[in-house]
Amino acid sequence: MKFTIITLFPNLIKSYISESIIKRAIEKNKVDIEIVDLRNYTNYSHNQVDDYQFGGGKGMVLMVEPIVNAIEKYKTNESLVILTSPQGKTWNQKLSKNYANNCKHIIIICGHYEGFDERVLDYVDLEVSIGDYVLTGGELASLVLVDSITRLIDGVIQNESHLNESFENNLLDYSVYTKPVDFRGKVVPEVLLSGHHANIEKFRHESRLKNTYLKRPDLLNEQELSKTDKEFLNNLKNRKEE
Ligand code: ADE
Repeated sequence: MKFTIITLFPNLIKSYISESIIKRAIEKNKVDIEIVDLRNYTNYSHNQVDDYQFGGGKGMVLMVEPIVNAIEKYKTNESLVILTSPQGKTWNQKLSKNYANNCKHIIIICGHYEGFDERVLDYVDLEVSIGDYVLTGGELASLVLVDSITRLIDGVIQNESHLNESFENNLLDYSVYTKPVDFRGKVVPEVLLSGHHANIEKFRHESRLKNTYLKRPDLLNEQELSKTDKEFLNNLKNRKEE
């Protein structure tokens, strides 16, 4: 998988990708991340990439030409072009998985300032938001996409880590514990110390149901539940109401 990130702040991107799991994924050639400085693609003097908006109004708007110049330089017939913007489709695990499995090259354009000339949209395949809030720029959003896709690429992290993680089958992850067994009287559930694999699996499945019910009940509406799962959740509800 290759990412091309078009940005006004290359150092912000460099800093994140030179640490931890993404750094290792690059070293292992699982992923290639190319950082492109948008200022190198303007035809205007003084590296100008933005200007006032027609019709008046506050803030500077990214111009269409530098963005399209940069896209056209790096785009191939295998590229997907994504623009980060608060107006985009909200990013989620399903999209991450889809692009991790089906894409070879993703170009991400980081929006900035008061937005971008509307005509940019004619050159992008997808406008993506990472949530209903406004960031100062698209760099964090582009890193969210790169990070969430890269960790799903085969061989980047242990494959089993994906199996039960949050949002897999519309459930949150199960609760986990490590040393010490007893912290100020709060003890690790006994079953986890029992070495009984079937019971541990059962505990973990119920823990996923319980966490989802307590923290993200909306996810359960999208989930086909077995009879036993429904009974477990009903008991939980009844206990909560008592
Ligand atoms: N740029 C500014 N806010 C954003 C958001 N929420 N998602 C993606 N890009 C953005």
